Amino acid sequence: MQKQIEQTVNYLKSKGIDLPEIGIVLGTGLGKLVESISIEWQLDYTEIPNFVSSTVEYHKGKLIYGTLQGKKVLAMQGRFHFYEGYSMQQITFPVRVMKALGVKYLLLSNAAGAINLNFKKGDLMLIDDHIDLLPNSPLVGLKDDAQGPRFTDMSAPYSCKLNTLLKQIALEQHITLYEGVYAALKGPNLETRAEYRYLKLIGADAVGMSTVPEVLVANQIGLACAAISVLTDECDPANLQPVNIPEIIAIAAKAEAKLITLYTQLINELA
Ligand code: HPA
Repeated sequence: MQKQIEQTVNYLKSKGIDLPEIGIVLGTGLGKLVESISIEWQLDYTEIPNFVSSTVEYHKGKLIYGTLQGKKVLAMQGRFHFYEGYSMQQITFPVRVMKALGVKYLLLSNAAGAINLNFKKGDLMLIDDHIDLLPNSPLVGLKDDAQGPRFTDMSAPYSCKLNTLLKQIALEQHITLYEGVYAALKGPNLETRAEYRYLKLIGADAVGMSTVPEVLVANQIGLACAAISVLTDECDPANLQPVNIPEIIAIAAKAEAKLITLYTQLINELA
């Protein structure tokens, strides 16, 4: 693992990457934030040693390096998911690379279904905590002190400092930002009505198929992170409609402007 990280880091350094401060991971339908970046270079994941490729059609599969609000950022336009058939270690490899390059803050995003029916589609939810229902963890099988403690603490997986700033920015910008618990499932199927009832019962406010693996690794290696879900559909077991993926993508795209405002302003305020 350490050798692969070094190989990838050396490759990215050979492209002229210079101490990026902030890492960004853009989820389904959420690639537009990169238009705010003054781009120095972008690479397809297929060009980067030890990166797997993005197989999801709504994910561009590009690593972008540039400046946003005067800060050096490294953005993943499209992430990897467990349901694509990759291992947990493969899908979280970019997070370890970001840390090795000097990234201090990791900002994640995803499209998610609203389990809490007080939350409406098209709105945003700041992830305050999560429930990991994925069938495996990127920390399993790893015994490498350089990669942080095996028994990673998860008492505060999302940075209190970043979340406080995001809530302040949302207030100032008049953006509705709910706060809640994200449950991660393996997918790629959507959930049954019984599963939505179960998720509500165990305390989830939103459900999706990503983010938690990256957050586990970020916590293991001591990378402060924040994550925002764009709520793209309402998971009401009493009135469940068949999934409409084009609608989910359209709602994510429409809500993205609010996510961009929050993250851009946050980056501006980070010292
Ligand atoms: N489940 C339900 N609705 C969703 C999901 C999910 O995983 N992702 C986006 N909307």
